Amino acid sequence: MTTRRGFLLGATGALAMAGLPGGARSQSGGFPVLQARQASAQLAPSSYPKTDIWGYDGLIPGPALRVRQGGRVQRSFHNGLQQASSVHWHGIRIDNAMDGVPGLTQEAVPPGATFDYDFVAPDAGTYWYHAHNRSVEQVARGLYGALIVEEAAGPDIDREETLILDDWRLNPETAQIDPDFTSFHDLSHAGRLGNLITTNGQHDLSVGVRKNERLRLRLINAANAKIFALALSGFEGWTVALDGMPLETPEPVSDVVLLGPGQRADLIVDVTAEDGETAYLLRAENEQVFSQAAFPVGGVAAAARRPAPDALPPNPNMQFPDLAEAERLRLNMEGGAMGRLDAAILDGNRKTFRQLADSRQFWAFNGTVGMTDTPLAEIARGRAVRLEIVNDTVFPHAMHLHGMHFREVLEDGTFGPLRDTLLTFRGERREIAFVADNPGDWLFHCHMLSHAASGMMTWLRVT
Ligand code: C2O
Ligand code: CU
Repeated sequence: MTTRRGFLLGATGALAMAGLPGGARSQSGGFPVLQARQASAQLAPSSYPKTDIWGYDGLIPGPALRVRQGGRVQRSFHNGLQQASSVHWHGIRIDNAMDGVPGLTQEAVPPGATFDYDFVAPDAGTYWYHAHNRSVEQVARGLYGALIVEEAAGPDIDREETLILDDWRLNPETAQIDPDFTSFHDLSHAGRLGNLITTNGQHDLSVGVRKNERLRLRLINAANAKIFALALSGFEGWTVALDGMPLETPEPVSDVVLLGPGQRADLIVDVTAEDGETAYLLRAENEQVFSQAAFPVGGVAAAARRPAPDALPPNPNMQFPDLAEAERLRLNMEGGAMGRLDAAILDGNRKTFRQLADSRQFWAFNGTVGMTDTPLAEIARGRAVRLEIVNDTVFPHAMHLHGMHFREVLEDGTFGPLRDTLLTFRGERREIAFVADNPGDWLFHCHMLSHAASGMMTWLRVT
């Protein structure tokens, strides 16, 4: 007779024999497995075939990982793909060795091999994980999922929904993913924009609710390049957190919520639509409005609505940077179509724009394209940094800093909310500041993944 435990061990053994050259490695932590593999999903309407995807545990989105604040996330990542991969835990103030950046914090995990991720999640909030090797392809094929870090005492809500937004570029006949991940046009313009928009892998997600119910919506933009402009209908809502971090004061959602690639927003929403009506998360696009997710109302939860929500509890050890003492850095973003970059340094050599284009590189930071052996800056641990970012291109960019959150320094000298990704538009000059309190090598790159693949990537070293 096979006991349940025996069966599970047997299954693991079979997996190891099926092709884990580093089999010993997979046994090391004994952590639950998170496997990247090929699968298929019904992304397009049912009259279309299923789409071949790459998913964690074969799912779109990957399994939602949940941990209590201060707890450990432990996963044995198994690469079941034909391509090397790694997992990045976006927005976590993580131990650098677990950040999942090939060539900077670890080697890419070869096909068939495993890597144990094991880290503390110090901050409550909405985070996500995604592939960080050839992200322009791997994230576009579906390698992402939610990472939820729960507050010890969460807000007063009836329930929560995690909504991961994506856009896919599918062949309009076969519904298969367009495999041209590095077309000149995408790399040099606004990035890879899709033709099918999904929420949690569904083009027509519908979630039943009741009138006066209070929900927490955890919104995550996993798209390669799309900026979502979202609005509510049939709800009254408040933004309570951005990029995982609580706002000091919840902000009523009166207009659109903009979500650049990589960004998150937590909304607390009350269903105000009547029984039998439908509330919506809406998406504005080209002056039209679409349903991003529908919330049909069936029944009434309570006679009366609650008062406006309180702020979420703040996360620990978030100091305000001392601007007067801060080290000043500058990042000039140049290039792209209709840009003014006529030459830049690539791999230590000066190249003309034509030569750069031949290498499929179109963007530069401070006159240099892509990753370099030396960091943009080396910063002493605990030092405050203020970083001026000039978007001298005609495209928007979503600049993501690994390992630490920052605040925008606003025109009037006050600070904006904590964020890990800053959405900048053409011609803008913005400034962010943070305390460099997390030691290690941290990427700073555009989360329009086509841009990251074609030059918009640099790093900082905190020692
Ligand atoms: Cu979400 Cu370097 O990425
Ligand atoms: Cu960009």
